[in-house]
Amino acid sequence: MYSEIRFGIIGLGLMGREFASAAARWIHLSSMMVKPVIVAACDSNENAFDWFKQRVQTLEFTTTDYQKLLGRSDIDAIYCAVPHHLHANIYIDIIRARKHLLGEKPFGIDLAANTAIMRAIAEQQDLLVRCSSELPFYPGGIAIINSLLRDDFGRIIEVESGLLHSSDLNPTKPINWKRMIEYNGEYGCMGDLGMHAVHVPLRFGWIPARIHAQLSKIVTERPDASGRMVPCKTWDNAAIHGEVDHPDGYTFPISLLTKRIAPGEMNTWFLRVIGTKRSMAFSTKYPRTLQVMEYQGGSQAWQLHDIGYASAYPTITGGIFEFGFPDSILQMWAAFCDELANGRTKMQQPFYCATPEEAHQSHLIFTDALANH
Ligand SMILES: NC(=O)c1ccc[n+]([C@@H]2O[C@H](COP(=O)([O-])OP(=O)(O)OC[C@H]3O[C@@H](n4cnc5c(N)ncnc54)[C@H](O)[C@@H]3O)[C@@H](O)[C@H]2O)c1
Repeated sequence: MYSEIRFGIIGLGLMGREFASAAARWIHLSSMMVKPVIVAACDSNENAFDWFKQRVQTLEFTTTDYQKLLGRSDIDAIYCAVPHHLHANIYIDIIRARKHLLGEKPFGIDLAANTAIMRAIAEQQDLLVRCSSELPFYPGGIAIINSLLRDDFGRIIEVESGLLHSSDLNPTKPINWKRMIEYNGEYGCMGDLGMHAVHVPLRFGWIPARIHAQLSKIVTERPDASGRMVPCKTWDNAAIHGEVDHPDGYTFPISLLTKRIAPGEMNTWFLRVIGTKRSMAFSTKYPRTLQVMEYQGGSQAWQLHDIGYASAYPTITGGIFEFGFPDSILQMWAAFCDELANGRTKMQQPFYCATPEEAHQSHLIFTDALANH
């Protein structure tokens, strides 16, 4: 028997629709005993309602006022996907209304906003609050995570992780809120893309110290909706380099790359962990290929493994088939619902969604990068 988690969504844009689609595809997951049911939807723009009303059969309620949604006692949990300048107020109100929350990154437009969210979480510690970051749920990411959990790598030599986009290479691409400091924040590309780069490193306690960052503004003006050129002030690219002080008494270098202008890269998430006994690398650019090198003396040879659909949560999809972005969203939602229903220690698999503490640590890193570039 399924048990149900009744969800409200606040923010019905790109990501709000992805969650609705994942919930509709829940039968894909073959071992989940809990499922999300979307009963309420909120957006300040009424035009967003039609898509949901036509497609989400469980929807009971729409509103332009998120407080009305939070006032309903029959909603257990909220997914919130709104522009960054709204995170602090809305997330704090969600938490004070005693709803579980999967909130979109970066969990506050800046460190002050994030700190206010963290204070509200500290007052309601029995709620499950998690930050969205789905890309490590690709099978290649999960394979590296599981290998790290088994401590297969020996001494870590270096780590590189990042998320790369390229559509901003086109200078005629119109500006939107993600390129405006007042809505996206001073962090620019780091706030938008950074949680994806830091999620796995932070899970293993790799906090970069002695940071040096290179931040670039490459396209400094863009057309607005009317075609008039306006300033585009957000950072396009960021390369953050630091050192991790490993508890075993050594340090290793870490690079965290977030780029809006990486020519040819279309949402490429990658992770490379290089160690003395094992190295592994994965990129969503080659979604079925996992690179592994074992070293026990002798020859050094990278192997390419076709890993297919080796997802964290089992599905009906045959193991030989490819995994894609909507699958990573579905797997992240499975992890959130699994953790909410069963608790961290009784989850079906060990990789849980990014925590508020990890999101807070990401703010400390990005703030450090702004100060040290
Ligand atoms: N996890 C990912 O891979 C990923 C990808 C893209 C965006 N995001 C994050 O998701 C969030 C939203 O991004 P998006 O791409 O969905 O943006 P979007 O612009 O497509 O959607 C945002 C929605 O919020 C609505 N909104 C604005 N003010 C509101 C209010 N006061 N109350 C209710 N709704 C309001 C807008 O009308 C819009 O429909 C951001 O935090 C962004 O960083 C995450």
